[in-house]
Amino acid sequence: MSRRIVVTSALPYANGAIHIGHLVEYLQTDFWVRFQKMRGNECVYVCADDTHGTPIMVRARKEGITPEQLIARSHDEHAADFAAFGVGFDNYYSTNSPENKAFCEAIYAKMVETSALSSLQVPQMFCEHDKMFLPDRFIKGTCPKCGSTEEYGDSCSHCGSTYEPTDLKDAHCAICGGAPVMKDSEHIYFELEPHRDFLAKWLPEHTAEDVANKLMEWFGEPLRGWDISRDAPYFGFPIPGREGKYFYVWLDAPVGYMASLKNWCGKNGQTFEDWWQSDATEIYHFIGKDIVRFHCLFWPAVLKVGGFRGPTKVFVHGFLTVNGEKMSKSKGTFISARTYLDHLDPAYLRFYYACKLDGSTDDIDLNLDDFVLRVNSDLVGKITNLASRGIQMLRKNFEGAAGRMDAEGRAIWDDAVARADKIAELYETREFSQVLTSVREIAEEANKYFDRKAPWALVKTDRDAAREVLTSVVNVFRAMSIYLKPILPAYTDKVAAMLGEAPYAWADLDKPFEDRPVGAYEYLATRIDPKNVEAMVKASTI
Ligand code: 2FM
Ligand code: ZN
Repeated sequence: MSRRIVVTSALPYANGAIHIGHLVEYLQTDFWVRFQKMRGNECVYVCADDTHGTPIMVRARKEGITPEQLIARSHDEHAADFAAFGVGFDNYYSTNSPENKAFCEAIYAKMVETSALSSLQVPQMFCEHDKMFLPDRFIKGTCPKCGSTEEYGDSCSHCGSTYEPTDLKDAHCAICGGAPVMKDSEHIYFELEPHRDFLAKWLPEHTAEDVANKLMEWFGEPLRGWDISRDAPYFGFPIPGREGKYFYVWLDAPVGYMASLKNWCGKNGQTFEDWWQSDATEIYHFIGKDIVRFHCLFWPAVLKVGGFRGPTKVFVHGFLTVNGEKMSKSKGTFISARTYLDHLDPAYLRFYYACKLDGSTDDIDLNLDDFVLRVNSDLVGKITNLASRGIQMLRKNFEGAAGRMDAEGRAIWDDAVARADKIAELYETREFSQVLTSVREIAEEANKYFDRKAPWALVKTDRDAAREVLTSVVNVFRAMSIYLKPILPAYTDKVAAMLGEAPYAWADLDKPFEDRPVGAYEYLATRIDPKNVEAMVKASTI
C-alpha cells in the first residue's frame, strides 16, 4: 500500500547564498524523496526561505531596499540554485506568507488560552543610534578571556569561549560602531518545563539514539522557558495584542513547514487536514545537528500546545568539511552553489555526497582530490563507460537492435535485480554510501564479464554471441541506472530516453530489456578535469 509522506529540509536564511555546506542537506533529502516517489509513495517535499529576523532587516537597510525586496531577490536566487542541483521541491515557499502568519497567530492564541506563556523584564544592549536592541551577533568587542578584538557578543572565534555580551570589553554596535546602553524590555517566554514528561518520552521515539541522549542532558535541571518575542524594529510577524512585540524568527521558521505544505495543498486540490493533521501521514524533518534543540525540544512542545501533530522522525545529519577542515573563504573552500555550477556538473556533487552519506550525525568530508577520483573512476570509469561502450557497439554493429542475454550475462543481471530489496532498505535508512557500494559491485562484475567476453573481437567470429554480451551489458546498466535514479535523476532519465522507455519507477527493475531497439548513445557523464576544480577554488578565494 502506498504511503503518504511529507518531507522537509531546514529553511535557508534569506540573507545569504546557498553553498555546498547547505547542499549536504538538500541533496540527501532529495535522494530520499526521489526514492519514495520511485517506489510509488505519495511524497511531498516542502521548503521555504526563512525570511524574518534582525540580520535580514539590517542587510536590507544597508542595501537601501525593503526587507520584502531583499527576500524576493533571495527567493529567486535560492530557487534557481536548487533547481540547477536537481533538488525537486514540490513547493518552495516563504515564511513571510499569509498562511504562516495565520498559523503563528493560531498557535499563539492557544498558548495564551492554555497559560503556556510567562513574561520577564530582560536587560539587553540597545543602540541609541540605530534605535534597536542588539542581538548577540550585532555586538562586537574584546574577548574577556583571551583579549582577541572584534569578537561577537556570544562567543570568541579565537579561543572558543562563550560568554554574555555584557562580559565583552569595549562592547560596540556592529552596525554603527557606537557604544550600546543597557535597557530593560519585557520578553514573552514559552514555558518548557510543563512538557518535561512528554518530551522525555517523545525524544527516543522520534530521533536517533545519540541525538536523544544528547538532548536528555538538558533534563538534569528544570527546562528553561524559550524567549519567543523580539522588540520593534523587527522584520517579522507582530504578536497580536502586544504593541511593539514580534514573534522571534525561530518561532515562525518551523511553522513555515506547515505553511508551505498548506500552500501546496491549496495549489493541488488537497487539504492540510488530510496531510499534516492525519495520523496516516508520515512527516520527516531533515536538519543539521546545530538546530536539534529547536526541532526536538521547542517544536514538538509548540505543536502540542498549538493543537497540531508532530513529526514522525527528525533526521539529523552532520556538517561538511572540505579537505578535512571547516569551509574557509581564504582557502577557497567556502564554495557557493553558483560558483560550483560555473565550473562543474552538479551530478558530480550529488554522486560524491551520496558516496559519503550514511544516515548518521557524523560530519562528511569533501576531499577535492578524492572527489575527482571517485567521480572519474567509479561514475565514469566503472559505470558510465560500460554503457557508452556497450550501447555504441550495439549501434555500430547491430543497428542498435538488442537481442537476448546469454546465460552468464543473465546471471549477472539476475544478481543485480536480486539486490532490489536490500538497496531499497539502504535508501529507506539513508545509507546512501552503501547503495553506491552495491551499485559499484554490480558494475565491477559487469566490467569483468565485458572484458572477458571481449565483444569487440567476438563480433568478428560469432556475431550472435557478441550481441548477447552487449544485450546483457545494456540490461545490467539499465538496472544500475534505476538504482541510481534518486541520486542522479537527470542521468537516469537520459538512459530511459536512450532505451526508448518512459522514466523509470522502482517496479521497472526486473523487466528484461530484450529484442528491442536501443537509441543513439547520448552524453551521460565525462571525467572531471582537475583544472576545473582548481578554477572553482580560485574563484572562491577571498
Ligand atoms: O539554521 C538555519 O539556517 C535556519 N534558517 C533553519 C530554519 S529551519 C526551520 F525551523 F525553519
Ligand atoms: Zn548602532
